[in-house]
Amino acid sequence: ALTMVPAHTACALLSLAPLLVLGVPPIWTQPEQVHLSYPGVPGSMLVTWTTFNKTESMVEYGLLGSRLFDMSTKGDVALFVDSGVEKRKMFIHRVTLTGLKPAATYVYHCGSDVGWSDMFSFTALNDSSSFSPRFAFYGDLGNENPQSLARLQKETQLGMYDVILHIGELPDNARIGDVFMTQIQSIAAYVPYMTCPGNHEATYNFSNYRNRFSMPGQTESLWYSWNLGSAHIISLSTEVYFYLEFGLELLFNQYEWLKKDLEEANKPENRAVRPWIITMGHRPMYCSDDDQDDCTKFHSYVRLGRNDTKPPAPGLEDLFYRCGVDLELWAHEHTYERLWPVYGDKVCNGSKDQPYVNPKAPVHIITGSAGCREKTDRFNPNPKEWSAFRSTDYGYTRMQLVNATHLYLEQVSDDQYGKVIDSIWVVKERHGFSAWS
Ligand SMILES: [Fe+2]
Repeated sequence: ALTMVPAHTACALLSLAPLLVLGVPPIWTQPEQVHLSYPGVPGSMLVTWTTFNKTESMVEYGLLGSRLFDMSTKGDVALFVDSGVEKRKMFIHRVTLTGLKPAATYVYHCGSDVGWSDMFSFTALNDSSSFSPRFAFYGDLGNENPQSLARLQKETQLGMYDVILHIGELPDNARIGDVFMTQIQSIAAYVPYMTCPGNHEATYNFSNYRNRFSMPGQTESLWYSWNLGSAHIISLSTEVYFYLEFGLELLFNQYEWLKKDLEEANKPENRAVRPWIITMGHRPMYCSDDDQDDCTKFHSYVRLGRNDTKPPAPGLEDLFYRCGVDLELWAHEHTYERLWPVYGDKVCNGSKDQPYVNPKAPVHIITGSAGCREKTDRFNPNPKEWSAFRSTDYGYTRMQLVNATHLYLEQVSDDQYGKVIDSIWVVKERHGFSAWS
């Protein structure tokens, strides 16, 4: 015979069911989702992580090979309540390490006496302008099909990169965000992971993005700039051109900030030290994909601005051209595409034989195929003249900023087991607006 569960026990169990379905936050004081970012100040590194209960925020660290954890630094904790129906609560911890020796490797863990993370290591960034940093970058690495993740994890842990640039498209709610941030920990806990917002982040006015990341500047990571090696690197939000419901002033504030930042970077004394200006933003100005995205249109909002707003909103192409931006990195399209130097929809190659030697306009790379739920996009069979190379393989891009004149880019295909399917050298003997003529 069946053993009957007493009615009141059954009811008690049933009444718990909705809580289990909704997911009660665990009592959890152990750090998760550990990631690094570079605050833009030489000798510093910022560690960010999450706990579900409030704890202290501490990083214990030491030089690789010396006594473990002989240094410690405290930081701040902030409550973040996701705006979704669950109203999930989490605590975001931030600790900035300072006084690090350039190029030295440190071992660290983070947390507090009620829970510590695993041990990780990172190499402090070298602040010299003759440093030749190595980057990996990509966009649209989703948590359901993060195809390139394993290869990136291994290469990062092998020390192949000094910095990772994630060009937008991080998961859009707290629960998926947790899964994703846990997945990228095996990259982002070892090397500064620099981000910009993408369209998925728009949920609840980018609140997950603004709260979880810790980029330089005072704009909740929406737009900022920093220097590394011979480059000045600008991260921006293309989403201000699309989500007008969050305020047109965001678009204008960013534009004014970009103008100022670029003017400053172009002061002769600054450009002499950091001659390369590189931008990263999620949605491209140009692309030859076979969808209806902004970049497929001649009058792309990001490129030419919007005239359906009051006042009309300026686009970015003219500003970047006038300020001599060398390289523009984009994602959003789930493909890889390299463009010939382009301005005003026209190819502006350096010369017929050497298009990227002293190019007459910025170089654009679109790399949004790291791996995501939507699979890669398809290309328009008749691309415009400015399309130089394209691939629908999943993959990511590597870059080495060799020196003031030479920059190397290559595209890795994950579908082809890490094969390099495209590479270029961009060579510039002059930088700035005057280099175009
Ligand atoms: Fe996107």
